Amino acid sequence: MGQLYIALDFQSAAEVEQFLNQLAPYRPAVKVGMELYYAEGPAFVRRLTEQGHAVFLDLKVHDIPETARRTMRVLGQLGVELTNVHAAGGEAMMRAALAGLRETSPTTRLIAVTQLTSTDQAMLTDLMIPHAMDQVVTHYAQQAEQAGLDGVVCSALDTPTLKTVCRTGFQFVTPGIRPAGTEADDQKRIATVMDARQYGATDLVIGRAITQAADPKQMYEILLTQWKGIKQ
Ligand code: C5P
Repeated sequence: MGQLYIALDFQSAAEVEQFLNQLAPYRPAVKVGMELYYAEGPAFVRRLTEQGHAVFLDLKVHDIPETARRTMRVLGQLGVELTNVHAAGGEAMMRAALAGLRETSPTTRLIAVTQLTSTDQAMLTDLMIPHAMDQVVTHYAQQAEQAGLDGVVCSALDTPTLKTVCRTGFQFVTPGIRPAGTEADDQKRIATVMDARQYGATDLVIGRAITQAADPKQMYEILLTQWKGIKQ
């Protein structure tokens, strides 16, 4: 069973520290996204890795291939275990990003966002992408695999289909996780932890369900237990 990354969607190191203190003695795997990275920068990411947190650096790089390569060369120096690009940047960009990452890190894994979990079929139509969601996600995942990437970020709902077309060991990192009966917020394609497990997700990203919980530590323990499959 892979990681349960807690999405540290906070604006400052102080807020993160306050939150992580509530989870002590756990040292959870965490996801640092754009908000926190742009607020606190690479030094803070390095601090988290040095404190022993496994870090997924979720910056969703999407640019011309050479810029993606140079960006990943920089991010490879931060000691994170996972980072990502948008598959919509194309296969050449994904190859370039991977090459850049390998210039500075032999171990950081690179995955691609297929479609955001806030995107639904109506939004694809809006974006003038005239295909069914599962076809789009499958195509993007296959391109990521061909580019040599380690996996994709996708909805848990996409995972059963993707498992039939992607190689063994390909990673399916799934956000949009909600405990049964709670708010979807802005997410559209959501699943519970148990469903994600059954569908074949390899890693989870959970943000608000834990960070906004009345008792974050208790919620983390409940969801981690469900994820690891230990009967309560
Ligand atoms: O609060 P919630 O659990 O919805 O947070 C999900 C996190 O996963 C957010 O940080 C969001 O940026 C991220 N994410 C996502 N969908 C993707 C990729 C990343 O929701 N496809």
